[in-house]
Amino acid sequence: MAELQNLAYVVFGVSDLAAWRGFATDIVGLGTTTTPDGSLGLRMDDHPWRMLATQATEDDLTHAGWDVGSAEELEAYVAALRSKGADVREEDAQRASARSVTRLYSLTDPNGVIHEFFSGRTGLIPDGGNLSPILRGPGFMTGDLGIGHILPVSRDYDEGVAWYRDILGLRYSDRIRQLIAPGVYADATFFHSATGRHHSLATGSFPSSKRLNHLMLEYRDMNDVGLACDRAKKAGIPIVLELGHHPNDQMFSFYMRTPSGFGMELGHGGLVIDEVSWEPQIYDRMSDWGHARNMNMAD
Ligand SMILES: [Fe+2]
Repeated sequence: MAELQNLAYVVFGVSDLAAWRGFATDIVGLGTTTTPDGSLGLRMDDHPWRMLATQATEDDLTHAGWDVGSAEELEAYVAALRSKGADVREEDAQRASARSVTRLYSLTDPNGVIHEFFSGRTGLIPDGGNLSPILRGPGFMTGDLGIGHILPVSRDYDEGVAWYRDILGLRYSDRIRQLIAPGVYADATFFHSATGRHHSLATGSFPSSKRLNHLMLEYRDMNDVGLACDRAKKAGIPIVLELGHHPNDQMFSFYMRTPSGFGMELGHGGLVIDEVSWEPQIYDRMSDWGHARNMNMAD
């Protein structure tokens, strides 16, 4: 059965491209490029870009791009979506070219995020991403695992969980349900794609003014997490959650606020699921140490 292989790119609308360029280069350590339409491409590896920041007023996630494998697998996946009644659109050659892919479809989720499905990423540049020299280690965990994960907030949590599982066809990883006040729970459900990063997408029932709660990128060297945290603090970037560790994906990470207001988690050591032995659990806390909260993710 054709299914999503990995989260290959994301697109943001951002109001301050210059702030994003500085943040990406000087804090996170990404490479940068300018695309023909004037958008800011952020590079993590040999892909032409992995995040695209386009000029907009809304400051939020607009698109999530999924690699579906071969052209045949893409067609089979789209046919399966349509058989479930999903209103999948075929994107034209111009849009596919702008995404550096050969064939592209799209589908909007109940939370307003447009998911894009593609085969054939083109335009690879074998230079490792031309990453910022501030990195100590060899860059980011990408490849078959994709760029990291996104956490779109569900307007209706049960509907969101069901949509990502039943329509998008993501695999259930596990769930965290933490009591935060008498009778009040923070709840999140985590999903993985075929290549097994613990989650490429999670959704939660958190209060939020934005579609995106946060995006996570993973360094290959643990020291780059701490160094990025130091750089962020020195630059006065708001730290949402201090350094800590998640019990489910085993990620060592911290969370900061991006120039667009939504969060970015930078981590190391995330778990890759072995489907044969995986036994989903329900955890009762988001973090097993650290992640002290300084503020909410977005106002
Ligand atoms: Fe995360």
